[in-house]
Amino acid sequence: MSTSSDQVATLSGLSAAELRGAGELAARFPLTPNAEPATAASHAEIMGDLTFGVAHTDHMVRAAWTPQEGWHGHRTEAYGPLTLSPAAAVLHYGQEIFEGLKAYRHADGSVWTFRPGFNAARFAASARRLAMPPLPEEDFVGSLAALVAADERWVPDAEGSSLYLRPLMIATEPFLGVRAAHQMEYLVIASPVGPYFAHGFEPVSIWVAQDYHRVGPGGLGAAKTGGNYAASLLPQQDAYDKGFEQVCFLDAATSTQLEELGGMNVFVVDADGTVRTPALTGTILEGGTRSSILQLLRDAGRTVREETIVLSELLDQIRSGEVAETFACGTAAVITPIGRLAGEGFDVTVADGRPGPVTTELYTALTDIQLGRRADPHDWMYRIV
Ligand code: COI
Repeated sequence: MSTSSDQVATLSGLSAAELRGAGELAARFPLTPNAEPATAASHAEIMGDLTFGVAHTDHMVRAAWTPQEGWHGHRTEAYGPLTLSPAAAVLHYGQEIFEGLKAYRHADGSVWTFRPGFNAARFAASARRLAMPPLPEEDFVGSLAALVAADERWVPDAEGSSLYLRPLMIATEPFLGVRAAHQMEYLVIASPVGPYFAHGFEPVSIWVAQDYHRVGPGGLGAAKTGGNYAASLLPQQDAYDKGFEQVCFLDAATSTQLEELGGMNVFVVDADGTVRTPALTGTILEGGTRSSILQLLRDAGRTVREETIVLSELLDQIRSGEVAETFACGTAAVITPIGRLAGEGFDVTVADGRPGPVTTELYTALTDIQLGRRADPHDWMYRIV
């Protein structure tokens, strides 16, 4: 596999300035309010103790697709269980895609989301790879706006908290033959969350999986689909059992190059200030946070390289001090310093196990933009409420 500085970002999506207003797009998903929303007491209890991905809000968004009708039945309704045939294709062949975004409460009470056009474009790209019908990008953004407007009381305002939005598409056709299904359902659910890692902005320890791969060349690695995460679960569990918080995967072709963690991209900061991340070779998910970090670094005039990162070279560079910091990033995890990198036969500490200055500066810049505390020159923030 070549060094791939020519393999640059493929997704950008519509910026906030190019999207129609949230009210207009949300109206595409009319609301039938939940007749039994959470009580004020249960809402207060949940919002007072936010852990990642546990709670859900009062509503969800839905739409359905068939070849005859296209996308139809757009609506916002009470959150609740789905009725699904046990023969539904998603349950057998994993024809499924999803996304992850957050809605942030700003100091003036307004609610915003970050680069929804990017996630809309990635959702459409994932759909194409999984032989599913792409959802029009403004319907995707409208669905987020409709859900956040219906569930506005669930957008927290505590530092480090947000309303996590989880759009997904599943193949619902009851058919056991192996082919692309002819019935789909699109859903969005939401969950008020605190930091993905309970300890917040503190370094995590990473186990590098050498016996397992997440994806292979020509596979689903560039798509956000459940199977890639399923492939990460056993190595992730092994990593936990060894006392590590996350697992890092190497490329399947040579088992020598860093790809990504179970659900996050990875970056390396050299002592000379250059920042590097594995190039998008088709086996790595193009993260919105990854893309935004690259832009912030370029804005700041730093040298940035998307290229092959060979594990053995990285270990030498960490030991010699040529590499000063490493960090992971994703919507859920934001930017998380990596303090320790270990695998069979090696165990190295990075930046003395503390958050490094470049990692900290990026975390501050990104979260300041997301929380409306600094200028947003690329029109990343999209106002919903
Ligand atoms: C995200 O960062 O939003 C992700 O999708 C990663 C993980 C929680 C699945």
